[in-house]
Amino acid sequence: MQRIIVLNPKGGSGKTTLATNLAAYFACHGIKTALIDYDSQGSSTDWLERRPREYAAIQCISAFRHPHGVTRSFAMRTEPGTEVVVTDTPGALDLMQFSHLFAQADAILIPVLPSAIDIRAATDCVNKLLDNVQVRDPERRIAVLANRSRTNTKVYKKLSTILTEMRIPFITTLRDSQNYVTSAEEGIGLFEMQQSGMVRDLKSWEPVIEWLVGRGCDVQAGKDKGDKEEKHSPRQVPVSQGAG
Ligand SMILES: Nc1ncnc2c1ncn2[C@@H]1O[C@H](COP(=O)(O)OP(=O)(O)O)[C@@H](O)[C@H]1O
Ligand SMILES: [Mg+2]
Repeated sequence: MQRIIVLNPKGGSGKTTLATNLAAYFACHGIKTALIDYDSQGSSTDWLERRPREYAAIQCISAFRHPHGVTRSFAMRTEPGTEVVVTDTPGALDLMQFSHLFAQADAILIPVLPSAIDIRAATDCVNKLLDNVQVRDPERRIAVLANRSRTNTKVYKKLSTILTEMRIPFITTLRDSQNYVTSAEEGIGLFEMQQSGMVRDLKSWEPVIEWLVGRGCDVQAGKDKGDKEEKHSPRQVPVSQGAG
């Protein structure tokens, strides 16, 4: 089972957007996927509740809720056969309190907004992760990406320079796009949207998927199974094997 964590100390940086889109990506490729929501705002949980039945199922684990009538470990268990677990985290997360999660993670993704405050918060978070938290193979398993970016702005150029100079890979830039807002409202992922005008956004996800494949999160294994299910078929995102 591959474990992906989405992290950033700042609210609004795109954690839930990234986590839900990743979960949808794996699920719509026939990979048995769970989405764990640690944020008491419950945005990933809400997204899953909006998810139409005809789309590939994703197990919802609302880790912020106190379980009723069952033990916490029972409430937190993934269904048998789960292949990918995506974890959405709250802002202002105490990294040490969640260190057990990081120790098990196959991939940790940090979305960063182009603003001075966000850049500073993300830099501190990455430094803490690299220096104080036990992460397996940290320089290979943690990556940053720029979110909601307009690449022709000064602040984006500053962001991209800082992200490029970090000790971890800077894998992609996601533009500010209504496609994220629309798909989130519908409880689906970008890869499941059927309208036109998606090519640029889908293209910007290719490096994310390639990087995850390099960390063992491989959709190819689930593809045949996915084709057999009568669910919405995914938009094509080319994935090359074994990146990074
Ligand atoms: N690339 C993007 N383009 C447009 N809107 C975005 C993008 N990424 C996130 N958003 C929007 O920004 C808001 C905050 O994003 P969210 O993923 O909830 O952040 P977080 O989970 O870090 O608090 C949401 O309304 C979301 O739809
Ligand atoms: Mg969130």
